Amino acid sequence: MIRVDDLTVSFGRGDARFVAVNQASFDVAANSAFGLVGESGSGKSTLLRALCGLVPVESGTFDLESDKKPQMVFQDPFGSLHPRQTVDQALREPLLIHGVSDQEPRIHQIMENVGLSPTLRFRYPHQLSGGQRQRVAIARALVLEPDILLLDEPTSALDVSVQAEILNLFKDLKEQRNLTYIMVSHDLAVVSFLCDAIAVMKDGRIVEQLSRDRFAAQDAIDPYTNSLFQAYQ
Ligand SMILES: Nc1ncnc2c1ncn2[C@@H]1O[C@H](COP(=O)(O)OP(=O)(O)O)[C@@H](O)[C@H]1O
Ligand SMILES: [Mg+2]
Repeated sequence: MIRVDDLTVSFGRGDARFVAVNQASFDVAANSAFGLVGESGSGKSTLLRALCGLVPVESGTFDLESDKKPQMVFQDPFGSLHPRQTVDQALREPLLIHGVSDQEPRIHQIMENVGLSPTLRFRYPHQLSGGQRQRVAIARALVLEPDILLLDEPTSALDVSVQAEILNLFKDLKEQRNLTYIMVSHDLAVVSFLCDAIAVMKDGRIVEQLSRDRFAAQDAIDPYTNSLFQAYQ
C-alpha cells in the first residue's frame, strides 16, 4: 500500500544543510499499521510530513497506492482545530472545499463512527473534553474517506484512560474503513498495541525494523533499539 524508498529530506543549504530524514526505506501493507519510534528530533514527524506533501523530498521516492490524499492526525487537537469553528463547521469545511454535496448525512455518519454524540455538533473546541476534541480531529481527517492516515503522537496529549479509548477507536476504524496507518509514538506500549510492524529511527535513519511480535518481546539486534527498550522499563 505504501512504499518508501531511500527517502531523504533536508533543511537549509550549504554548511547549514541538515538532513532530517536520511535514506529511509520501508513498506506498509494495506490495512496494516506501521509504527515509527525514536527519540525526539530523529525525523519522525518530518517523514510523515513528507508523505503528506508538506515538506519537499530531496531524493528517493514514495508511492502511496491511493488516489486520495493521506490525512494527518496530530498530537494536540486544540492546536489542530480552529477555536472559532464549531464541530459542524470543522467537519463541513473539507466537504465544501471538495464540493461534496451530501454534507448532512456525511457529518452525521462520521460523528457516529467516531463516537461523538449528535448533541456536540454545534459546540466549539473549548466546550469539549480532550478526548472529544481528538475525536473531532479524527472525524475531520476521515470525512473525505482517505485510505491512509498518518498519526503523529495522536494520544500523547490525552489522559491515560482517554488514550485507551482513542487507541481502541483507531483499531476499530482501521477494520471498518480498511485504513492503512503510519503512527509515530514515543510510547512503546501504544505502538505494540496498534502496530503490525515498527521502524526505529535515529538521527534521520531507520536503524531497525521489527515485527510486532519481536517488538513486544523486545527482541532487537540494534544497540539503539535495545537502549530504547531499556529506557522504557
Ligand atoms: N522546517 C524545518 N526547518 C529546519 N529544521 C527542521 C524543520 N523541521 C524539522 N527540523 C529539524 O529536523 C529534525 C527532525 O525533526 P522532527 O521530524 O520534528 O523529529 P521528531 O518528530 O522525531 O521529534 C529536528 O532536528 C528538527 O529541528
Ligand atoms: Mg515529532
